Amino acid sequence: MSDSLIIFDTTLRDGEQSPGASMTRDEKVRIARSLERMRVDVIEAGFPAASRGDFESVHAVASVIKDSRVCGLARAIEGDIQATADAIKPAEKNRIHTFIATSPIHMQEKLHMTPEQVLERAVWAVKFARQFTDDVEFSPEDAGRSEEDFLCQVIEAVIDAGASTINIPDTVGYNLPGQFGNLIANLRQRIPNSDKAIFSVHCHNDLGMAVANSLSAVLNGARQVECTINGLGERAGNAALEEIVMAVKTRQDIFDCTTRIDTTQIVPTSRLVSNITGFAVQPNKAIVGANAFAHESGIHQDGVIKKRETYEIMRAEDVGWAHNRMVLGKHSGRNAFRTHLKELGIELDSESSLNSAFAKFKELADKKHEIFDEDLQALVTEESTEQDNEMVKLVTLKVCSETGETPMAEVTLNVDGTDMSASMPGGGPVDAAFKAIEAILDCGCKLLLYSVNNITTGTDSQGEVTVRIEKEKRIVNGTGADTDIVIASAKAYLNAMNKMKVDLDRAHPQSSQPPI
Ligand code: KIV
Ligand code: ZN
Repeated sequence: MSDSLIIFDTTLRDGEQSPGASMTRDEKVRIARSLERMRVDVIEAGFPAASRGDFESVHAVASVIKDSRVCGLARAIEGDIQATADAIKPAEKNRIHTFIATSPIHMQEKLHMTPEQVLERAVWAVKFARQFTDDVEFSPEDAGRSEEDFLCQVIEAVIDAGASTINIPDTVGYNLPGQFGNLIANLRQRIPNSDKAIFSVHCHNDLGMAVANSLSAVLNGARQVECTINGLGERAGNAALEEIVMAVKTRQDIFDCTTRIDTTQIVPTSRLVSNITGFAVQPNKAIVGANAFAHESGIHQDGVIKKRETYEIMRAEDVGWAHNRMVLGKHSGRNAFRTHLKELGIELDSESSLNSAFAKFKELADKKHEIFDEDLQALVTEESTEQDNEMVKLVTLKVCSETGETPMAEVTLNVDGTDMSASMPGGGPVDAAFKAIEAILDCGCKLLLYSVNNITTGTDSQGEVTVRIEKEKRIVNGTGADTDIVIASAKAYLNAMNKMKVDLDRAHPQSSQPPI
């Protein structure tokens, strides 16, 4: 019988640490529900000590998720562990994940602690966390650059202290597959009580090795992989959940373990995460990219038509591409709308948000008669953004664009209850609209990224626009969708500006480690 490979998703914690990817409480709950539907074993819902908002998000996820285990991250300090214990309390199955760095560079330069102090603190943290739950995970941060003898010493001690999962992070993505696999094999072999814990891995993608390193670790006995949807994460990201799961499933001739993931939920969840965070998926991304199952060359197409396996090692429908179907139309009623949202795992908080989302759906169905799952996801993202009491709302937008003439935009915004208008010329209609918005808000933000993707196919598809803006070293993403891409662009720009206005005074889990 083959072993179980535990899939630990950290999209809501490490994924959210990507610049601009921060999510609201309701957005986190929507993604958590989608992860649960996918049958993810453990959901790391956040870092509760970061801020009041982060605490509430983890608490909200812990209150609704029943099937997956809900985990919160805590540095090895009392306040963090206490906050995490409180945040995950409502969950049916919970976990505290505590960590401290063990590499020479992190201990000296970041923690200013000796190896003896780190060892003592790690043991203390695990024992303290065990007072709140039986399920405690410990990570020696930057294990990929730590000395193996010291790692063995720390891990043996924390297992004795009660940690049941030992997670080995390659925090800076420095390792190569053979080396990382050997590390896992050595740790399991050298640590006398290693059989009392599950070995887990957490790989970053700085050298593009996150998935390869994780899989090499699995071949050497790791039985939990920490990963994120679409490989979202700081810098080059984390190991991509969809790639790990499909590699293990497709290469059962190599792996002696299986996951319990419902792979048909992969593409819908990927879309949801990209839609909420504003991180678009590149077309050639494995499994979830728009071209992942597309064939261009005549020879390939011919081969696939004769026998699919000639050029395809997986079936598109097995990872959820078949979900891409027309679901509702202009004559669909409120009940059909509500039922379909439920099937997508979306529950709007109140009758008034359902009514307002339904009104938007009718408006959209008038412009575009086939409504797909992806349209509904975008519509609900917009609805929940508005419910988050955005201070600035788009009232009207008029653009004039004609060959040989300078494009002009006329914008009216509602700013804290007062309508304000401006009219500006620009290089194109989007540029003019952004300049008019800036003329009203005088935000002084720098535009770092502007990108447009069509949500479904056809020229009547909604355009989904992502913008990334920066002000005083803070970066936020905004998204907006509409069948008119200039309106979608204005919505995305305002969404980002509204997020910029929210005070996000959050601690970063890996920045420093204050004393107990
Ligand atoms: O990359 C890392 O080391 C982490 C730890 C907190 C597990 O994210
Ligand atoms: Zn990480």
